[in-house]
Amino acid sequence: MNKKTVRDIDVKGKRVLVRCDFNVPYDENRVITDNRRIVAALPTIKYLIENNAKIILCSHLGRPKGEVKPEFSLDIVAKELSRLLGKEVVLAKDVVGEDAKAKAAALKQGDVMLLENVRFEPGEEKNDENLSKEFASLAEVYVNDAFGTAHRAHSSTTGVASYLPAVSGFLIEKELNFMGSALENPERPFMAILGGRKVSDKIGVIESLLEKVDVLMIGGAMAYTFFRAMGYTVGNSICEEDKLDLAKELMEKAKAKGVKFMLPIDTKVGKEFSKDTESKVVKFSEIPDGWEGFDIGPETIELYSKELKNAKTVIWNGPVGLFEFDQFAVGTNSIAKILADLDAVTIVGGGDSAAAIEKAGLAEKFTHISTGGGASLEFLEGKKLPGIEALQDK
Ligand code: 3PG
Repeated sequence: MNKKTVRDIDVKGKRVLVRCDFNVPYDENRVITDNRRIVAALPTIKYLIENNAKIILCSHLGRPKGEVKPEFSLDIVAKELSRLLGKEVVLAKDVVGEDAKAKAAALKQGDVMLLENVRFEPGEEKNDENLSKEFASLAEVYVNDAFGTAHRAHSSTTGVASYLPAVSGFLIEKELNFMGSALENPERPFMAILGGRKVSDKIGVIESLLEKVDVLMIGGAMAYTFFRAMGYTVGNSICEEDKLDLAKELMEKAKAKGVKFMLPIDTKVGKEFSKDTESKVVKFSEIPDGWEGFDIGPETIELYSKELKNAKTVIWNGPVGLFEFDQFAVGTNSIAKILADLDAVTIVGGGDSAAAIEKAGLAEKFTHISTGGGASLEFLEGKKLPGIEALQDK
């Protein structure tokens, strides 16, 4: 990575504003159901504590859209951070208001505080200049470690970097190192598995990966658009009728580039979108009218599994079925297990596939699971991420 990190800057005794991505899922009782993003931020925070900085953390949580809404308070994150760090993390009552300013001014070396949800401020998502200056006024150094939000050009991710020395934290460094080296210098065969609902959401990533991989395997609802483009009927399956030409083009491009483009050969279909719906496995070319495809079938799992056994590097983005419903989670769970057992570099980008791996208890067996959903997708597409671009070059 060609950006400066916290290692390249003196933080001793300085107030350091750290943008994290603490946008974690929580249930109706406001209990955090997956703390991975908080855990992933710890190395930078611990480094700053050890190096006697005065630490001001900030993040968004959900989409309160510029209004103060208590259900989006970061109080649950402050509590979890305090538990993980074994020291109190004080939560300010506001973002850049009087309480935040007073608490920031009172910090001693090694202290950690957290600002309230940055999206309580109407200027945050507009990358408002005044708000960016207010953020900057709280500190002397800015560290961005919010990989999951690096694709957003907001005040706390980008704007503030114009007014303070701005460097990256260890999480951003790690994400870029793992995903960057897999893309730039993969051990081959290099394979990618792409799932998700729509071809249109994944055009950029498919095009970018066609330049790099040896094998591209498709799963998820977007497979039905490809089937349709090949002239088959797909029943009630999700299908983007206006993207059939594009699907054909992508398949032709793969052929021209010598990339093995693999589609499911069978699929598990259901009568309706409900967890206990009647279901059956059919050939991809024989989806009956009135049925909807929700998962890859057993023959596809076997076919993909055989191919993956030869892989030396694999990138997986997006579940290959409707994994929220147990009976249609078989494909996604099988892919997770197959990858977990491979002797290869295995990288998972994307919130839903990461959640599936976590749910299956296989996280430890992967080389790298990205903390970014949209951000890792944009990175895989080869796009520049504004939150990273804004940081100082080495
Ligand atoms: C995410 O969960 O992908 C990030 O935290 C970004 O959240 P956003 O999509 O609401 O900007």
